[in-house]
Amino acid sequence: MSNNEKATITFSDGTPSIELPVLKGAVGPDVIDIRKLYGTTGKFTYDPGFLSTASCNSSITYIDGDKGELLYRGYPIEQLATNCDFLEVCHLILYGELPNPAQKTDFVNRVMQHTMVNEQMQFFMRGFRRDAHPMAVMTGLVGGLSAFYPDSMNLHDARQRDISAIRLIAKMPTLVAMAYKYSVGQPYMYPRNKLSVVNDVLVRALDRIFILHADHEQNASTSTVRLCASSGTNPFAAIAAGVACLWGPAHGGANEACLNMLGEIQQMGGVEKIGEFITKVKDKNSTVRLMGFGHRVYKNYDPRAKLMRETCHEVLTELGLGDDPLFKLAMALEKIALEDDYFVSRKLYPNVDFYSGIVQKAIGIPVPLFTAIFALARTVGWIAQLNEMIADPEYKIARPRQLFVGATQRNVVPIAKRG
Ligand code: ACO
Repeated sequence: MSNNEKATITFSDGTPSIELPVLKGAVGPDVIDIRKLYGTTGKFTYDPGFLSTASCNSSITYIDGDKGELLYRGYPIEQLATNCDFLEVCHLILYGELPNPAQKTDFVNRVMQHTMVNEQMQFFMRGFRRDAHPMAVMTGLVGGLSAFYPDSMNLHDARQRDISAIRLIAKMPTLVAMAYKYSVGQPYMYPRNKLSVVNDVLVRALDRIFILHADHEQNASTSTVRLCASSGTNPFAAIAAGVACLWGPAHGGANEACLNMLGEIQQMGGVEKIGEFITKVKDKNSTVRLMGFGHRVYKNYDPRAKLMRETCHEVLTELGLGDDPLFKLAMALEKIALEDDYFVSRKLYPNVDFYSGIVQKAIGIPVPLFTAIFALARTVGWIAQLNEMIADPEYKIARPRQLFVGATQRNVVPIAKRG
């Protein structure tokens, strides 16, 4: 990390210039260490949306957005997606290494032992309306887990954090399934840890969705989890904050929003109406965006989208849905957008959510459940990042500063005298 390079900031207001250390990561852009800036100069930096700010150091996931590269613990996503299953990837993200056969058996057993949720959870569920959005339910249920596991709430105890990690990874699928069963008014099914595989292609597709969503460095929901946990709250509360952030359509909610968008274009008249829709997207006075397109970091193809596109073809062929009108529409939309100067000049490419929705819909997963599926896959990333933060001796409560632009101090006028 340390490096002899320095950056010098000079000021035009008479403040003495300051020399700041430049830190080097294992790979990727260097980072200017500004921690002493305020103490020395009395000035803050300004970077809404963190366009140029590294908020932490991390050794979990690396993205090179210009190359379209994604590595978990150094392994390319393409190799993981084709050679490993989701629980192997969870082990990698959580503990830093792929498991050997004995470690895998042990890890799978530990996860499987925790798939059941407390019976009281179903009474908690009853408080929700049947038509509640699954992400509303998930935000409540995951936060609610902290009421059930007081024995694994201490964020500063590594063993308790590990137990919480396994509980969260194991229970999220059960909670998502409960949210679904509740929404359709059917009885819950207790987790069955040994199922016979009905269709290899569909199982592989789901596993791939999980692997591709398992972690993605300091994205909005992960940063939310880190920020929330930095106060010392318990892991369940911090992950619930991540679930809430993920729900937004600019982030994990994009998969649902993308499928709804495809449905709307289909209703407007399908492929024929793509031009009209793209005109709306490009109109700066409209708020319409091409959902499933664009990414803060990827300015080249999203490598996850490439893999998901492949899976999309496999699943639709397997299910005899090659002529599925939504898929055809998505392909036509992608082609037109990739040739249009608006998208080309802004380096907007399809992201993973452009395809994951089509795959999930083909498998039979209801559209409102898509983001909850994303949440269950991302849980391992959230918890690994949280663990990494707590173990980092440099970690502090996250507390951004601001550029205040409101009223300066003034005096209260008695109500009778206010005009
Ligand atoms: N459709 C139309 N225009 C877009 C889109 C889009 N999907 N995405 C970005 N742009 C345009 C913006 O209008 C802006 O244009 P301008 O320079 O003329 O003002 C330019 O591209 C840059 O966009 P920003 O919003 O500044 O980019 P930012 O990095 O802040 O946002 C984001 C990234 C949120 C992902 C954005 O591309 C978006 O809203 N995409 C659609 C939602 C989506 O698919 N999200 C999923 C992301 S992947 C994930 O979280 C799993």
